[in-house]
Amino acid sequence: MEAPIQSNGKLALDKDAPWVEKYRPRTLDDVAAHKEIVDTIKRLVKENRLPHVLFYGPPGTGKTSTILAVARQLYGNAVSNMVLELNASDDRGINIVRQQVVDFASTRTIFSKQFKLVVLDECDAMTKDAQFALRRVIEKYTRNTRFCLICNYVSKIIPALQSRCTRFRFPPLPGDYVRERLQYVIELEGVKLGPGGMDALITLGAGDMRRTLNILQATHMASGEVSEQTAYLCTGSPLPTDIEAIAQALFNEDFVDVFERIGAMQIAKGLALVDIVQQLLPWVFRIGMPAKVRIALVEALGDVEHRLAFGTSERLQLGSLVAAFATARGELIDAAQ
Ligand SMILES: Nc1ncnc2c1ncn2[C@@H]1O[C@H](COP(=O)(O)OP(=O)(O)O)[C@@H](O)[C@H]1O
Ligand SMILES: [Mg+2]
Repeated sequence: MEAPIQSNGKLALDKDAPWVEKYRPRTLDDVAAHKEIVDTIKRLVKENRLPHVLFYGPPGTGKTSTILAVARQLYGNAVSNMVLELNASDDRGINIVRQQVVDFASTRTIFSKQFKLVVLDECDAMTKDAQFALRRVIEKYTRNTRFCLICNYVSKIIPALQSRCTRFRFPPLPGDYVRERLQYVIELEGVKLGPGGMDALITLGAGDMRRTLNILQATHMASGEVSEQTAYLCTGSPLPTDIEAIAQALFNEDFVDVFERIGAMQIAKGLALVDIVQQLLPWVFRIGMPAKVRIALVEALGDVEHRLAFGTSERLQLGSLVAAFATARGELIDAAQ
């Protein structure tokens, strides 16, 4: 499993680089899935009419990559002079934003008539006050600067900023595109795929390409072979077969037995209750039962998940989960009689 040592130092280094960075799309054509967005942006860039833009959508869908590809296409080697990139890990009070952006935007570009580009990543982490300050800055420097705001939740961006930008929504990547991209990386990296590996990666990644690639790399490094089994193990997610066993037990066994059994499984396999709860939902729909019982179960799952998010005792919540199923089981038995 040891990686062969390359005589060329750079290649050896590349081998260790996180694949998310190594396989970040370099050009707009490399960006998978978002064809309409890419086509629109290409056209705007070509006509030199790029407006202020707002990219929003869940993580790992190519927002940062897209704007960096635009920057590369616009400025080539001059990228570092022409682009200011700020993200949420930087201090982002009002004054910082104003100062940095103003310093950057107010200096004229000497050697070209092109506008500069300010990329504000993770904008939804900015305070409202900072966003209001930004609105003024955008207005003031529109002549020679374009802004690209990036965020996960568009609702956290004040309307005054939204209306100054052209919005592009980056949805989670559809499975087919993820598959294609994965195949490309798998081939180049010589990853060994095992049974169910590809589908497991797509399911676990859930349209987040960053997460998908990270799982691929981690599983590859940890196990040598990427199969359904190793991918789920590596992420600590319950295997579909484990969930099936749990669902069977919940619907068929007595309270104390199920409680003990799931508790033991959690310890043996290192499963978090929240993962179990979330993956049980499809089973509640798959198994036939009166609407009233199903509704009560779904509500119970939601309650347990909600409480777990606030750091309550796993064991107690497990009890609550099992209790909900025990109640449902009782009602099913009553209904059958
Ligand atoms: N549309 C895409 N096409 C190809 N790779 C992608 C795409 N979206 C994300 N990736 C992969 O995921 C990584 C993170 O993407 P990034 O653009 O930073 O996502 P975001 O900014 O939307 O969170 C990239 O380095 C790339 O490897
Ligand atoms: Mg990003």
